Amino acid sequence: MLNGKRILLIVAGGIAAVKVPDLIRRLRERGASVRCILTKGGAQFVTPLTLAALSGQKIYQDLFSLTDESEMGHIQLSRDADILLVAPATADIMAKMTAGIADDIATTALLATDKPVMICPSMNVMMWTHPATQANLETLKARSVEIVGPGAGDLACGEVGDGRLAEVKDIIAALNRFFQRQRGDGALARMRVLVTSGPTHEPIDPVRYISNRSSGKQGHAIAAALANLGAQVTLIAGPTAEPDPDGVAVVRVETAAQMLKASREALPCDIAVCAAAVADWHVADASKTKLKKSTTPPRINLAPNPDILATLAQPGPQRPLLVIGFAAETGDVIEKAKVKRAAKNCDWIIANDVSPGSGTFGGDDNTVHVITAQNVESWPTLKKREVAEKLAGLIATHAAKFL
Ligand code: PMT
Repeated sequence: MLNGKRILLIVAGGIAAVKVPDLIRRLRERGASVRCILTKGGAQFVTPLTLAALSGQKIYQDLFSLTDESEMGHIQLSRDADILLVAPATADIMAKMTAGIADDIATTALLATDKPVMICPSMNVMMWTHPATQANLETLKARSVEIVGPGAGDLACGEVGDGRLAEVKDIIAALNRFFQRQRGDGALARMRVLVTSGPTHEPIDPVRYISNRSSGKQGHAIAAALANLGAQVTLIAGPTAEPDPDGVAVVRVETAAQMLKASREALPCDIAVCAAAVADWHVADASKTKLKKSTTPPRINLAPNPDILATLAQPGPQRPLLVIGFAAETGDVIEKAKVKRAAKNCDWIIANDVSPGSGTFGGDDNTVHVITAQNVESWPTLKKREVAEKLAGLIATHAAKFL
C-alpha cells in the first residue's frame, strides 16, 4: 500500500523525535519515499545528517533559505507529496496548525498544502489532556486531519499516562489504512476476509508441545495480498515469527481450540482462507505440571482437534460466501486434495506438496494447484508472496462475478 507513496515527514521538537529514524527506515522498506522537514525543536533531538542519510534526501529546515527555496519552494514541497505526516506532533505545532500560524517552514508547509495531513501527537500527559490541546485536537479532527495515537505509558518526563508517540508499526498501519481508504476502489474493498496461518501448539505439559514446521509465511502473505486489494482482513495466526502484515487485524492464538474460537468470533465474513497447519490432535490429558524424566517414557493420549475449515464451510447462515482450504500432501497431491475439498465442503482447495525436500513448509517458494469443483489449475513454482498475490487476484475476479 505504501509502495511509491511520497511522504513529507515533519519532525517537530519532542523527545519522541528519536524514533523518527526507525520510522523512515520502515517507510522506505515498504517502497515509500520520505522527504523531511526538521523544525528547530526537532533538531535538538535528531540530527539533519541522520535524517538525510536514512531518507536519502535533502532535509528542509529554513523557510528563508535561498538554496532551499530555489531548489524546491515551500509551496511545492507541501504539494509534491501524497500525505504530510507530522511525527512527533507537539502541543505547540498542533496549536499553530489550529490557529493557522505559519512562522517556520513546517507550519508554512502545513498551511499551504492541498494534501491530506496525518499527525502523531506526543507530549507530556498534562499538556495532552489540557483543554487547549483537546480543543485544538477537535478542531483538527473537524478539518479531517488524521490522528494517530498517542499511546499510554511511561513518558520521557517521568510521568505516566497518555502522550507517548504511537508505535512505528501503528503509524505504518494507519498510513496503510489511510491509503487503502483513499483508494477505495480496491477490488476487494469492503469485503471481510478471515485468514488462518501458521502452526498450532498443542501442550503436552507447560513446557512441551506437539506442533509442525509451518512458518506462517504462506498464510501471512495471503492476508497481506488480500489487504492490499482493499479487503478488511482478520488474520488468526498460530505461533510464528512472521511479523504482522500491515493493514491487517491480527489475532494471535496457540492451540487449535483457540484458533477455532477466534475464527468463530471473526464471523460473519465474506471469504475465508484456511492456510494454517492446524494440528489434527491435541493431548487429551495434558499435564498441568512439567512431566518428570523417568525410566519409562510417558504415555501421551491424543484426542482429535476440531476442524476449523470444515466448521467454517458447514452450510448455514454464517457460512462465508467463498471458503478456501489448503491441502498439504506428500504424494497423489491433486487426487487427495480433491477428496479433501469434498470432505470439508470448501469451495476451492489449494493443494501443495509438502514431501521432504519440497521446502514447502518453512521455505519461500510454493508450487500449488488450485482445485475447484469443476477445475484444476496448476501454477509454476512461485515465491509464496507471488502465490498469495495470484490467489488474491483470483479471489477478486471471482468476487466481482459472484459475491
Ligand atoms: O506456513 P508455511 O511454512 O508458509 O507453509 C505453508 C503451508 C504448507 C502450511 C500451507 O501452504 C498449507 O498447506 N496449509 C495447510 C496445512 C494443513 O494443515 O493441511 P491439511 O491438508 O492437513 O489440512 C487441510 C485443510 O484443513 C487446511 O486448510 C487446514 O487449515 C484445515 N484444517 C486442518 C485441520 C484442522 N484441525 N483444522 C483445519 O482447519
